[in-house]
Amino acid sequence: MIKINTQVGIVGAGPSGLLLANWLKKYGISSVIIELRSREYLEGRVRAGLVEQNTKDILKQLGLDARMNKEGVVHDGVYLSFEEERIRIPFAELTDGRTISIYGQQEITKDLIDAWLQDNGALHFETKATKIVDFDTKCPKIHFEKDGEEGVLECDFVAACDGFHGIGRKTLPKKSFQSYDRTYPYSWLGILANVAPSTDELIYSYHKNGFALHSLRSEKVSRLYVQVDNDDSVDNWSDDRIWSELSVRLGTPGWELKEGPIFEKGITPMRSHMIDNLRSGRLLLAGDAAHIVPPTGGKGMNLAIADVKHMVDAFVAFYKSNSEILLDKYTDDALRRIWRAQDFSNFMTTLFHKQDAHGSFTYRLQKAKFDYLKVSKAYRTTLAENYVGLPFESFEI
Ligand code: PHB
Repeated sequence: MIKINTQVGIVGAGPSGLLLANWLKKYGISSVIIELRSREYLEGRVRAGLVEQNTKDILKQLGLDARMNKEGVVHDGVYLSFEEERIRIPFAELTDGRTISIYGQQEITKDLIDAWLQDNGALHFETKATKIVDFDTKCPKIHFEKDGEEGVLECDFVAACDGFHGIGRKTLPKKSFQSYDRTYPYSWLGILANVAPSTDELIYSYHKNGFALHSLRSEKVSRLYVQVDNDDSVDNWSDDRIWSELSVRLGTPGWELKEGPIFEKGITPMRSHMIDNLRSGRLLLAGDAAHIVPPTGGKGMNLAIADVKHMVDAFVAFYKSNSEILLDKYTDDALRRIWRAQDFSNFMTTLFHKQDAHGSFTYRLQKAKFDYLKVSKAYRTTLAENYVGLPFESFEI
């Protein structure tokens, strides 16, 4: 039986678990990470690539932004299209200089793993957390299995950063929370292609055939999505069909979509999941373990990072000042931002997806919103400040 001891036991080496470990270290708080998957898997997993201003500020503050500054691209705006009409929302101008950057989530994961291992941080890959126990005492434990051997990680706190299917969410006592779910009646077919992006900034588009999104990864790689039915399959989508549909849905007069070899295709469902409690005793949940938002707006990773900020504040107050006030506020502090993002993601999703018959009442509301964006600076500002992410101070009460 392997026995390990630390202050904060972390389950999951995604962006939230890794950031938590690196950040706590700056305050002299020790942690150990247990991760089910291999390093190669984590570093290769394709996810969204939108980095909010707050996330950039945190990575900068921790000195973890060097490669992002070199390889990521700052975007000062976004294009919104509705039936071949395109407008641009300028971020910095509307939000006091705030912007987003495009830099793949797996690149952030790589940077955080490198930083943690360079500092001799403890990170156990291919290790399965089997049980979290005693989190209602001062000595919680994470039981795990590594290479067929059993072990236990004894700690002061458990941070469950292990995603929607992880053990953290399953361990939270059922009686301690209420959950909320929404499944949207459409999915995204996403591709990565070896072709220069046909745009300098992201394009979100409503079309009567359905939603499309043009995102980017680098000067040579583009990321694009089309709305498909929930029961659709990638087998129904040849490369030709994907490009021709993207070209129609993103089309505006005088603009052309460049095509190139597709090297990755996948379908992502669109759903929301929320719980109204993120902590039980000394077990705290962050990221996808605590909430799922639909991908429209790219909030997933940024919310996970924001949860970690609140966690770090709470752990630092506990270890430095012996105060449990921020631990007690963790759920409320995190949820105010999460619900805001949930609402914004729902807004972006329902504005740009085809929901029922083209020309229906719902369609007319969508069109009314787009027309309002064209005439109202206040409405554009609302969209921009949510898109780049509201500063942490805005949620303090
Ligand atoms: C992406 O680049 O994968 C991406 C960007 C923006 C979104 C969703 C996904 O809203």
